[in-house]
Amino acid sequence: MKSYNIAVIPGDGTGPEVVGEAVKVLNAAARRFDLKLNYTHYDVGGERYLRTKEAMPDSVVEELRKFPAILLGAIGHPEVKPGILEKGILLRLRFELEQYINLRPVKLYDERFCPLKGKKPEDIDFVVVRENNEGLYTGSGGFVFKGTPNEIAIQESVNTYRGVERCLRFAFELARKRRGGKPWRGLKGEDVSAGKKSQLTLSGKTNVLTFAFDLWERVFHAVGEKDFAEVKRDYAHVDATTMWFVKNPEWFDVIVTDNMFGDIITDLGAMVQGGMGIAAGGNINPNGASMFEPIGGSAPKYTGQGVINPLAAICAGQMMLDFLGETEAAQGVEEAVVKVTREKMKSLAAGKMGFTTSQVGDLVAGEL
Ligand code: IPM
Ligand code: MN
Repeated sequence: MKSYNIAVIPGDGTGPEVVGEAVKVLNAAARRFDLKLNYTHYDVGGERYLRTKEAMPDSVVEELRKFPAILLGAIGHPEVKPGILEKGILLRLRFELEQYINLRPVKLYDERFCPLKGKKPEDIDFVVVRENNEGLYTGSGGFVFKGTPNEIAIQESVNTYRGVERCLRFAFELARKRRGGKPWRGLKGEDVSAGKKSQLTLSGKTNVLTFAFDLWERVFHAVGEKDFAEVKRDYAHVDATTMWFVKNPEWFDVIVTDNMFGDIITDLGAMVQGGMGIAAGGNINPNGASMFEPIGGSAPKYTGQGVINPLAAICAGQMMLDFLGETEAAQGVEEAVVKVTREKMKSLAAGKMGFTTSQVGDLVAGEL
């Protein structure tokens, strides 16, 4: 029997509620697929910060580094000034554990939950690969003449060849292996005759960010041409990308972009797949401790009421199983989520699901 050690950070707000349901479903999957999952809980988050004035001790980072996977609920507390917990916990873990990919699948499970008129599950099935260690998120920059009328604030976008290349390679590999090598339905006849099987879209701003995206674009074509001939290379400016997410989401297979653009477009992606109630992401270090989370945040106004949708956290658990190499178990969880979403859920929004948080967890676990 395969055994995995999982670190669990329930965190703030509705985090503990949704993580509880994710663990419930993971345990059901473990029983069905003969796995052993050992959980270690970590008390990290806003409450702890208010108690101790420390966002996260160094020792916790060192312990977390040893796990193959971390399941995170949410970080964010209304009584803590914005930035402290984000930088002190979430971004710190992304950076120090070198989780250089933020993987965000955008998949519509049921037409009823799509805000776009006429779009069906087969139209919305793409993945955003967001660079997760660089760009505008490094904290590079500063103030000059702070607090005076001459104040200057500089926030620098950091793009290294190494960082860009490893992100692009991950995205190309994903494009290659998605659907088990079966061709993407969006390819044109001419692409298929040219031997293409999938598509990778670089989303950037080459017309304005002429340094950063020049590097991205050069490496994109160099790597693609040399090592991924069967992946069609496509480019879209990030503003146009948001337009097409709404108008023609079926144009996308895999998208790769920098940290800030990826942050923005994946919130839009979450909406087209049915909202924050179902959107999950993985902070991935392909060779180390990776962290999986529902992307919706701590939702303070719904905390403790049993009304928040746990499906996003359950899907984060599914991504975690997949990352651990438990493909069948991951598929089992996804099928259960699809079934419950299609056949039971009245809505994916908090308080409108037709079930409580824990009932939704029970329904998914019951399908396994
Ligand atoms: C996300 C969040 C974070 C980000 C915040 C909380 C720092 O919005 O995971 O997308 O900007 O990356
Ligand atoms: Mn975000």
